[in-house]
Amino acid sequence: MNMYDSARMRDALGFLGYQETDRKEEADILLLNTCHIREKASEKLFSEVGRMNEVKQARKAKGLDTLLIVAGCVVQAGGEELLRRAHAVDIAVGPQNYHRLPELVTKFNRKKGRVVVADFPAESKFDFLPETRATGASCFLAVQEGCDHFCSYCVVPYTRGCEYSRPADEILAEARRLVETGAKEIMLLGQNVNGWHGEGARDLGDIIRMMADIQGLERIRYTTSYPSEMTDNIITAHRDVPQLMPYIHLPIQSGSDAVLKAMNRQYTVREYLDIVDRFRAVRPDIAISSDFIVGFPGETDADFEGTMDVVRQVQYASSFSFKFSARPGTPASLMKNQIDERIKTERLMRLQELLLSQQKAFNVATVGKTLDVLMIEKGREKGQISGYTPYLQNTHVEGDKSNLGQIVTVRITGATATSLSGEIINPKAD
Ligand code: 5AD
Ligand code: SF4
Repeated sequence: MNMYDSARMRDALGFLGYQETDRKEEADILLLNTCHIREKASEKLFSEVGRMNEVKQARKAKGLDTLLIVAGCVVQAGGEELLRRAHAVDIAVGPQNYHRLPELVTKFNRKKGRVVVADFPAESKFDFLPETRATGASCFLAVQEGCDHFCSYCVVPYTRGCEYSRPADEILAEARRLVETGAKEIMLLGQNVNGWHGEGARDLGDIIRMMADIQGLERIRYTTSYPSEMTDNIITAHRDVPQLMPYIHLPIQSGSDAVLKAMNRQYTVREYLDIVDRFRAVRPDIAISSDFIVGFPGETDADFEGTMDVVRQVQYASSFSFKFSARPGTPASLMKNQIDERIKTERLMRLQELLLSQQKAFNVATVGKTLDVLMIEKGREKGQISGYTPYLQNTHVEGDKSNLGQIVTVRITGATATSLSGEIINPKAD
């Protein structure tokens, strides 16, 4: 979602004639988008602001003014404190206010002082942003934002606000525009994407089915799903819509019912496994991924073993796993039975070892197969390009720029835990 937001901020500043650059020293605006989800992500901000301030000061020495803007959830969680701690920051803007960037930049006046905008405006930012353009062959499209689930460890309901679903016609119009400007794949985004309940369709399944009619849109994906809000219409779209990729990110967080309850997750392990079965019934080859939190307050050895058991049962294609991070303002941060850091580390290592072995097994099982790969970028080595299979496996092949943005058929010849290698056997005609 932050990558999507960053692209929209770039579009908004494009209104004023600004263009994106990789070279910090030539930037009139340095914009840092931030994440508040775990302490590690939040803390990164301050070292990054320090580095940006060096650029700002070097430009100042040359008589050039630079606006340093911080955006994102760290601002929403405490913009004033951010300005106190980071003196170099000129403007701080929360995730629901970045449509106001052109106005904030135009009106900024050093004499009047620094600005924080972190309210939850009545208007939707989407109504004020300029039209999007594709940023490459694979693009993000936010369809839903915010969260009403209030998991006891999570800051998102406080930083992104309550759930908002964009109307279906607006989503379809944006999807068409992305395809017209070069997108072949669209990843539908939402903190709770399968909980979409906007105007003009019954659920996300309907949106996906409507998107399937867009000429030139070859791949549809969506993330992140909340298990108990999954609908049959979404699940069966994996059977009915060829453009919908066989991949589902379905975070379970923990394999213990007691921990799930303490987390305020509204499903049991059994219910989660049933949803997995329903996906596999309509699409046996579907790749399943999840997020996990280890060391949630009160998590016993037996609770953790429950998580390991679930992982063994599901056999994940890929996953993200984290140590519980006590975030300010969340109920879990105040729970008495916090887990020792050493135990968290041990559990995380054991879990990650298991997840990585499953990821490797999933990748190795594709060796010898031919898969369609959407080529996205140049590889690290000369003459190499890389892209993604339907199962979201990063795949490297020999190829040149002409293949970028194309879906090519690749024979998979090698696999590691994190990527595949192969050879193009047939550049698929457009
Ligand atoms: N500590 C650790 N992980 C967290 N996540 C969210 N909040 C926390 C936290 N306080 C993880 C969850 C979520 C993912 C986006 O980040 O696993 O699914
Ligand atoms: Fe956070 Fe996801 Fe829970 Fe919402 S459903 S509170 S975004 S972890």
